Amino acid sequence: MVAVGGGKGGVGKSFVAANLALALARREAVTDRVVAVDLDFGGSNLNLLLGEPLPRAELGDFLDGRAPDLDAIAQPTRVERLRYVAGTFDMVTAVDPIRDRKLDLVRALVGLDARWVVLDLPAGSAPSTLDFFFLGDVKMVVLNPEETAFSNAYGFLKNYLLRRLLTEFRDRPEVVAFILGWYREEPSPEERRADRSVTTMATALAEEFPPLRAELDGILRDDTPLLVLNRTRGRREAAYLDRFRGVVETHLGLACRTLGVIPEDRRVRQAVRDGKPFLVAYPRHRIARGFEEWAERLSLRARIP
Ligand SMILES: Nc1ncnc2c1ncn2[C@@H]1O[C@H](COP(=O)(O)OP(=O)(O)O)[C@@H](O)[C@H]1O
Ligand SMILES: [Mg+2]
Repeated sequence: MVAVGGGKGGVGKSFVAANLALALARREAVTDRVVAVDLDFGGSNLNLLLGEPLPRAELGDFLDGRAPDLDAIAQPTRVERLRYVAGTFDMVTAVDPIRDRKLDLVRALVGLDARWVVLDLPAGSAPSTLDFFFLGDVKMVVLNPEETAFSNAYGFLKNYLLRRLLTEFRDRPEVVAFILGWYREEPSPEERRADRSVTTMATALAEEFPPLRAELDGILRDDTPLLVLNRTRGRREAAYLDRFRGVVETHLGLACRTLGVIPEDRRVRQAVRDGKPFLVAYPRHRIARGFEEWAERLSLRARIP
């Protein structure tokens, strides 16, 4: 499973999810079946980026119990081995459409009949979004070279990491209390200047509970999200990717890898206007070749863990 998140809206999560799913489905010499799933309830647009018409069935049909599983509502696309599960358009009145169905949805995602499931996540760091991100064997974070996107992507990873730790140690109330206490306690004026990064908290946690050290290291080292910087203009902006990785590694203690950079290009919009996915409209463009290369890399990584 590949989860595509990133915190901020409009950075290109759906664009990346759609074209990566296409690239995975169109790889030569393999016949992997792929499903792209739009989990952006209320903001769904994956079908547009895939160049597909309004779907006949959508996630709401599963959430409301009208469809038994996600294979029943997965729509075909113009690419033979790619199907997609459409988001939900008419949930305007629902406060939290998946509140009671999250576990069922997780099971349904895992149960999809496909080699690759690509999750297009919503903006923000809602607990359910973080949980769907956790489902990814491959976790991708999309950002743009601008401060707001940086800050949201950082916040997203920080929230993800804290939720992950709280979930992992939920049977150890003293550990949970330590983590919550670290962030909740009103800091004294002295401490206000002090470092409240996850790195410092994790170090203090390991000192307080030495047997947790190995598990903590595993969470911080082995779960390496892949970073994608989208909409860059020029080489200088491409360098932002390493800068972001450095900040995440220093302040969150979380090892990350950089997958690559996608330049800003007006043809991205043009393809949507023409009702075609980018990869189909401009197969020789370097952005398309980039997605193909990433699809190769992901499948190698998945086969050689
Ligand atoms: N590299 C790019 N160059 C130009 N426009 C882009 C690029 N990536 C995304 N866009 C445009 O930005 C808009 C938002 O992208 P989208 O994938 O829907 O963002 P998100 O899912 O993160 O909210 C889309 O209309 C898309 O056409
Ligand atoms: Mg989106």
